[in-house]
Parts: sequence; structure tokens; C-alpha cells
Amino acid sequence: MKTIIEPFRIKSVEPIRLTSRPERERLAREAGYNLFGLHSDDVLIDLLTDSGTGAMSSLQWAAVMKGDESYAGSPSFFRFEAAVQNLMPFKHIIPTHQGRAAEAILFSIFGGKGKRIPSNTHFDTTRGNIEASGAIGDDLVIAEGKDPQSLHPFKGNMDLARLEAYLTEHHESVPLVMITITNNAGGGQPVSLANIRAVADLAHRFGKPFLIDGCRFAENAWFIKTREEGQADRSIPEIVRDCFSVADGMTMSAKKDAFGNIGGWLALNDDDLAEEARGHLIRTEGFPTYGGLAGRDLDALAQGLVEIVDEDYLRYRIRTHQYIVERLDAMGVPVVKPAGGHAVFIDARAWLSHIPPLEYPGQALAVALYEIAGVRSCEIGTAMFGRQPDGSEKPAAMDLVRLAFPRRTYTQSHADYIVEAFEELAATKDDLRGYRIVKEPKLMRHFTCRFEKL
Ligand code: F0G
Repeated sequence: MKTIIEPFRIKSVEPIRLTSRPERERLAREAGYNLFGLHSDDVLIDLLTDSGTGAMSSLQWAAVMKGDESYAGSPSFFRFEAAVQNLMPFKHIIPTHQGRAAEAILFSIFGGKGKRIPSNTHFDTTRGNIEASGAIGDDLVIAEGKDPQSLHPFKGNMDLARLEAYLTEHHESVPLVMITITNNAGGGQPVSLANIRAVADLAHRFGKPFLIDGCRFAENAWFIKTREEGQADRSIPEIVRDCFSVADGMTMSAKKDAFGNIGGWLALNDDDLAEEARGHLIRTEGFPTYGGLAGRDLDALAQGLVEIVDEDYLRYRIRTHQYIVERLDAMGVPVVKPAGGHAVFIDARAWLSHIPPLEYPGQALAVALYEIAGVRSCEIGTAMFGRQPDGSEKPAAMDLVRLAFPRRTYTQSHADYIVEAFEELAATKDDLRGYRIVKEPKLMRHFTCRFEKL
């Protein structure tokens, strides 16, 4: 059989409320055309993020009942620790309430004024934690990673020549080298095993620890298995172990590739650093055997880590985005290619070329998609990144719209509905108008600013 089906059946359903187009137009207007301002029960298909929005399995819900809420030494922690170490052979596993808490602890140790931290592309919260410590984050992804049309199989790879030059130039000020798998900010694009090993070698040659931001490690491993020479016959857990065995530590948001609604961890091999990290953990998150989590969450994650490396799941997962990208591409919608591991990215600046970047073509597309079909996506462009530290505004590098897919949550007919929404949009897109911002906060404006239609 050629059809790749959802490899699960549905035991518990969560109804979505069907809304009409006039109702959605009113709701969008009332929210100041900012989709973060919508109530989620007014959204039909919510593709705002793949983080914490996945469906837990029946075995994960059963594991929730096994959760032991002891303050110290809970068996839930030891089950969680063993599940992590089965895939990521680090000595110290430090649970946190989500990924950014692990980052905050990491950079309170390694950050500070005058420091510089390279990665392929830092995620916003990683960059935020680096900058809050006074340090600078630098993105050294390969050139193909910034070209929406390049078909390079590993567009998340680090540019090794640039990294070597960077480590030579900034040797004294670099406390560690990072890499993000998959490269979320660059379109959910994967990093090859060869590149991970080469980055680890370079970091170690310069005497620097190498850490992986592993949020979407299983999706990344699937791309390694299916695209990298010599990997096709290896199991996903084997590939995952290879990726992490060359690293000195990792940060993790368990809201992605651990099937959690909440959770994260920091892992380290070095005993002294782990002791320091646990000191921060106790001050800000909780005792080292629960971090910022309940025992039941730890048990759900332990089971989630078993399920996420299942090949039938990963084949279906990656195919969903490929299917939508193929259909949109055939319709002439400019999409980031190849499809990413967790999301479909539309190049709104190219598609709505009549709307100048400072009138937010990405926002125009995201709002239209909600008004027409009730689908909530996220602008990743000038509304998000346009405001400069000196108060001026300039176009972001790209105006993209991200459709991020919650894990195991939507079905094939939802995917077809999304494609149909783009067919309708294609017929009317030239009538879409841009926006102006009428109210914005000083920081991270895209979450709360209000827009007006031009
Ligand atoms: N690193 C990456 C690559 C991420 O994508 C995220 C979160 C984090 C770290 C932070 O983890 O949310 O658990 O604190 N990404 C979400 C997203 C929010 O929508 O892409 P967190």
C-alpha cells in the first residue's frame, strides 16, 4: 500500500467549534488582527505552534496515574532519567519545567558580558537567555539554509569554515558551541550526523564544550536515516545515540519530541558544572528529582520518549508536511523547500508581493488564513523582528508564515482543508491589504501589538 496512514486510532476526542467567516472577521478585528489575541476555542485548526500541543497516547495517560509526587527521590524521576539516558547518554539529567528554563540555567553558568555563543541558528528564547546574561549569540548556518528554494538535504547544517574562522577569531570569548536540531528558526531544517560530528570535533579541538538544543531530535534523526548516506539501515535510537554521544550536554524542550504538554531538561557530563546547575535549579525550579515538574509529568515524558522514536510515527509525521508542501508548490504558492520536520513555511513576501514589507505581508496572510478558514498560523517576519534596538523599524530578512503541526493531533482531512484554504486564498490574494501597527509594547511586540487594516 502506498498511502501513509495515521498510525493510531482515536480513543478520546476533543470537539472543535465550527465558526462562520463573518464571526471570524469580527473576532480578528476585536483581537486587533493579532492572532495571539484570539481565544483558542474560536480557532478551527491551530497551527500556532507544535510546542506542548501534541496528543498524549493512552499509555502516556496510564503513566500519569503511576506518577509519584514525592518531593525527593520519586520513582517517576528515575523512570524519566532512564528513558532520557537510553537515547542521550549523558551523566547528569536535570529536569526543568520547559526548554527555556534549561537555557536560563545554562547561560547563568556560561553566559556573561563579553561572551559569544555560536550556533546554526539560536531559537528566540535561547538568544533571549544569552542576551539577558550580557553575551552575544551568533548564527552560522550554511548559506543554503537561508535560501527558501534550495533543495539541500540538510539546510540546518553549521557552516564549518565560518565556525572555524569564528573560533579562531573569538577563541577567548567563546564558552561553548551549540547546535539546534532541527533548525526551527531556519524552517525546521535538519542537521546531518556528519555535520554534528564535525562541529563537535571543531569545538573540542578549540577546547570548548559542545551542546545540542535537541527539541526535535527524533524528527532530525528521521531525516538522517532517510537522507544521509549509510544511515538507511540503522534504527532511530541508534542514530539518536550517535548524535548525542559526541556532545557534552544538551538543552531540551520536552513539549516537542517527547510528546509532553510541558517539560524540559538540561543534561551535562561534567560533575562540577552539573552541581552548579543543580544549585540554580533548586533556587528557580525545584529539587533535582522533579525540577519544575510534577511526578506525573515525568512519567508521561518517559513513555513519550519511547513512542517518539517509532518509525511508523516518524514516517507519517514528516509525510504530513511534505504532502502539504507538494500541494502548495503545485499551486504556485511559494513555500520553503524541502518541507521541514515540524512545520510548513510560506514565503508571504514573495506571494503577496504587492504588500511592502513594512506593511507586514506575513501578518496579512496569517489573518486572511484565519478569516477564510479558521486556521491559526504565525507570522515570522517584520512584525516579529522589524523593530530595532534604536527604535527604528526595518524589514526582517524574510516575511514567512509558519504552519506548525501539533503532534498526532490533526488528520489527513485537516491537511486537505488547509490546502483548500490556500486555493481560496490564491483566488483573492491580490485584494489583500497590508497593516499598520497602532499600539505596541517595548519588547517582543508581536505577542501583544494591535494592527489596523490599511
Ligand atoms: N529551542 C527551540 C529550537 C525551540 O523551538 C523552543 C520552543 C525552545 C528552545 C524553547 O522551549 O518553549 O519549552 O521553553 N519553541 C516553540 C515554538 C515555542 O513555537 O517554536 P520551551
